[in-house]
Amino acid sequence: MATVPAKIALVTGGSRGLGRDMSIRLAEKGINVILTYHSKKEEAAEVVVILEGNGVKAAALQFDAGDIKSFDGFFAELGKTLKSTFNADKFDFLVNNAGVALYAPFQETTEEQFDMIMDIHYKGVFFITQKSLALLNDGGGIVNISSGLARFSQPGSSAYGSAKAAIETLTRYLAKELGARQIRANVVAPGAIETDFGGGRVRDNAEINKMVAGITALGRVGKPDDIGGVVAFLCTDDAKWVNAQRIEVSGGMAL
Ligand SMILES: NC(=O)c1ccc[n+]([C@@H]2O[C@H](COP(=O)([O-])OP(=O)(O)OC[C@H]3O[C@@H](n4cnc5c(N)ncnc54)[C@H](OP(=O)(O)O)[C@@H]3O)[C@@H](O)[C@H]2O)c1
Repeated sequence: MATVPAKIALVTGGSRGLGRDMSIRLAEKGINVILTYHSKKEEAAEVVVILEGNGVKAAALQFDAGDIKSFDGFFAELGKTLKSTFNADKFDFLVNNAGVALYAPFQETTEEQFDMIMDIHYKGVFFITQKSLALLNDGGGIVNISSGLARFSQPGSSAYGSAKAAIETLTRYLAKELGARQIRANVVAPGAIETDFGGGRVRDNAEINKMVAGITALGRVGKPDDIGGVVAFLCTDDAKWVNAQRIEVSGGMAL
């Protein structure tokens, strides 16, 4: 019997935090991973070693989600990496995870801050997904990482929360338009998680950590390993009928 080649996932922002955990959990399911980093090349290389230790093939590529003009160059590199490391022309799952935080009151948010957030969290997601379609296998999937902040409001997140809301709507359009190719599109929306995000404020600021735990039904702040397994699940056949859904993974935050 011919062996089925292992699936390949592209995880943006896989060098740290949630994307790192997603990459590891995908590898644990036997899925090969191409992860991207923005500036932390060494951290990305360390994740590659961990993934290879799980018995899958892995590679890391530099990617700037906010520089749409660089995407054609990125896809040229991606094509070469697919060939050289994975002996493949295409990949199966796109996980749009890369991102940065912005905490600014609505009244004080500048146009520069707004554009930075929209470029990275919305425009970048829109066009990396569009440009991925030529390399994405039919029957594959897209997972867009949103935030609890698209559902509930915390002061200081108006630009960020509304950009995340935009990719939630975009996800439903992707599911509709790509269904003919059997490509599923879903959203994973984490609550507040202890990572470097926003200078590590959820992890390192005791007051914020306590506030989040206090408004979470399960009584604590999230950890990266609360999230990665849900993304990995969406990239398996167990999730083959899950489409156009928003799965909030927050322990029941701000109910
Ligand atoms: N942590 C939370 O509380 C939380 C809650 C809800 C949603 N989220 C979302 O989850 C995703 C991951 O967050 P995280 O907590 O894992 O953050 P993180 O620990 O700060 O990691 C951010 C990742 O994104 C990459 N990145 C940063 N700027 C980039 C850019 N301009 N272009 C491409 N990649 C870039 C980083 O690369 P380098 O390592 O090279 O810098 C890193 O891999 C984000 O979309 C975030 O909005 C986070």
